[in-house]
Amino acid sequence: MATHLHVSQSAPTQNFEVSPSLHIGHNDLLIVGPGVLGRLVAQKWRQEYPGCHVFGQTVTTDHHEELIKVGISPSLKWTGAGQKFPYVIFCAPPYQSSDYHGDLRLAALSWNGEGSFLFTSSSAPYDCSDNGSCDEDTPVVPIGRSRRTDVLLNAENIVLEFGGSVIIISIMFVPHANLDLLNKEDKGAHAYWLEKGSVEFRPDHILNLIHYEDAASLSVAILKKKFRGQIFLGCDNHPLSRQEIMDLVNQSGKFSKKFEKFTGTDDPLGKRLNNSRTRQEVGWEPKYSSFAHFLDTL
Ligand SMILES: *[C@@H]1O[C@H](CO)[C@@H](O)[C@H](O)[C@H]1NC(C)=O
Ligand SMILES: *[C@@H]1O[C@H](CO)[C@@H](O)[C@H](O)[C@H]1NC(C)=O
Ligand SMILES: *[C@@H]1O[C@H](CO)[C@@H](O)[C@H](O)[C@H]1NC(C)=O
Repeated sequence: MATHLHVSQSAPTQNFEVSPSLHIGHNDLLIVGPGVLGRLVAQKWRQEYPGCHVFGQTVTTDHHEELIKVGISPSLKWTGAGQKFPYVIFCAPPYQSSDYHGDLRLAALSWNGEGSFLFTSSSAPYDCSDNGSCDEDTPVVPIGRSRRTDVLLNAENIVLEFGGSVIIISIMFVPHANLDLLNKEDKGAHAYWLEKGSVEFRPDHILNLIHYEDAASLSVAILKKKFRGQIFLGCDNHPLSRQEIMDLVNQSGKFSKKFEKFTGTDDPLGKRLNNSRTRQEVGWEPKYSSFAHFLDTL
């Protein structure tokens, strides 16, 4: 507790909404929910637009000091009718908010309509969960099928109504060297499974991966192109089964822990995502073309 108070006193929260005179530049960016992805987006955004300001909207002050260190001005409370931003990206996960859709509307209202408004979603709503091929146009499950997909579909509809775009991002993973810096859920599935050794999932379930840096570079590329009301897909086009992922991890010889086995039998097989259309429309290619390529670079 003492440490926390000390931190709070030495680094007062810089709530940008308390300054109505704050000048927002043409390339300034608001990141709602600046976690791992948001911070990488901020870094790449500043490389694209040196001198721009990047703002972060958070639900707690827990990481404000870290955000300030990486050049993101954090804020806890919504600006209300106040500031609007030319670029807004929403990367907050649904479970962190008591009013996810309300937050999303506030994010949309914080967009001045000039640059881009981009919402990060997941591939859960695509209706092809049993070894099906899937791309940007694959039909989604109907509203009412599950609470989880309803939340995402309603969120996507809100964003599209405001003229924003959606990026559906598959499972993200990060470089080995950074693992210790991250929360368990941010490290990537392979690191999590390695830690557990044995996991109650079926081994042949298919996963679609994308490196965090690539998810960030694709998000930035979409933001820069000022699309309106479009849906994009972020994945590496090399779907792998859980077992294939862990075989690659073992064969790489780059992890000291040994994985034993998957023991599940009855979950669905999963989807095979293909984002060739997104790549063409955005003019983007991943730096890490596959999980195997990523392991080679470690
Ligand atoms: C899943 O689909 C792939 C290719 O489309 C096929 O090779 C594989 O046998 C399928 N797996 C199962 C369990 O049906
Ligand atoms: C892990 O890889 C080594 C060689 O790289 C191999 O001998 C061993 O059988 C592999 N283990 C598993 C569980 O696949
Ligand atoms: C992805 O889809 C495109 C056309 O939609 C096709 O040409 C390409 O072969 C597919 N790629 C993979 C990896 O399946």
